[in-house]
Amino acid sequence: MRDGQFLSLHRRSVGIEVDAENAARARLRAPSALIHSGDFFTWASRTDERFEAAVGNPPFIRYQLFSGDVRELANKVASRLGADFNGLSSSWAPFLVVTSGLLKPGGRMAFVVPAEIGHATYAAPLLECLCANFTQVGVVAIRDKLFPELSEDAWLLYCSGYGGRAEAIKWCALERFTEFSGPPKFEQSISLEEWRAAGCRLRRFVLARRSLALYKELAATPGVRRFAEVAHAGIGYVTGANDFFHLRPARPSCGICRAAVCG
Ligand SMILES: C[S@@+](CC[C@H](N)C(=O)[O-])C[C@H]1O[C@@H](n2cnc3c(N)ncnc32)[C@H](O)[C@@H]1O
Repeated sequence: MRDGQFLSLHRRSVGIEVDAENAARARLRAPSALIHSGDFFTWASRTDERFEAAVGNPPFIRYQLFSGDVRELANKVASRLGADFNGLSSSWAPFLVVTSGLLKPGGRMAFVVPAEIGHATYAAPLLECLCANFTQVGVVAIRDKLFPELSEDAWLLYCSGYGGRAEAIKWCALERFTEFSGPPKFEQSISLEEWRAAGCRLRRFVLARRSLALYKELAATPGVRRFAEVAHAGIGYVTGANDFFHLRPARPSCGICRAAVCG
């Protein structure tokens, strides 16, 4: 996706870009658009403008790097709009909530989002907030990478009817992204009740319905234990630095056999 690509398709559009070079590129690509240079959250917290629609590909800045005043303002404005994000939330989540607050009643928005929306803990306050403010909230999971050059998988989010309320998340799982002129046909509707019962995670719905039904049947079978009941899976990373014992202070060793002298 190149800067200004969305705006170039919509004559009377407004864009906000913090990076001056990207903003300049976007102005070249979308000369009819009004492009503000600066921090989106500062602009959003001050503007009285309201819009029929919004589209975007927000920055996927992880919580470790999404910090300082920008983060504080982002979370403050998002909280005012009904979404309280914890310290682990990446930048894209408040971008979506704050954008929604810039819509006119009945407004709609479409975003490229990281697949984390399907499992991250902070996706819960985001989707709760969107469902509390839109008539329809739809998530499109895409199995193939949307951006092969990125480590992150990306999905699509469609929200319409700002000011309404949704009791379910519309769902569609695609093998790969193909261009379409509007929101895809959402074959499935996941009630908020079912989503909450699944720990506010959408990822399981990527499974084919038969696999999901089998999973549920197994999970309900007496004697079947969930992995989390017997083990704990943590996020770790492999450094390859296997000769880790150099890191420990050398223990006195036997002068003869070099064996460690155990006290
Ligand atoms: C994933 S890229 C999207 C680029 C392009 N505009 C598009 O829609 O495809 C995210 C863009 O957001 C910009 N950005 C990051 N933080 C921002 C902020 N606080 N306010 C405005 N723009 C920001 C980055 O400079 C980057 O150009």
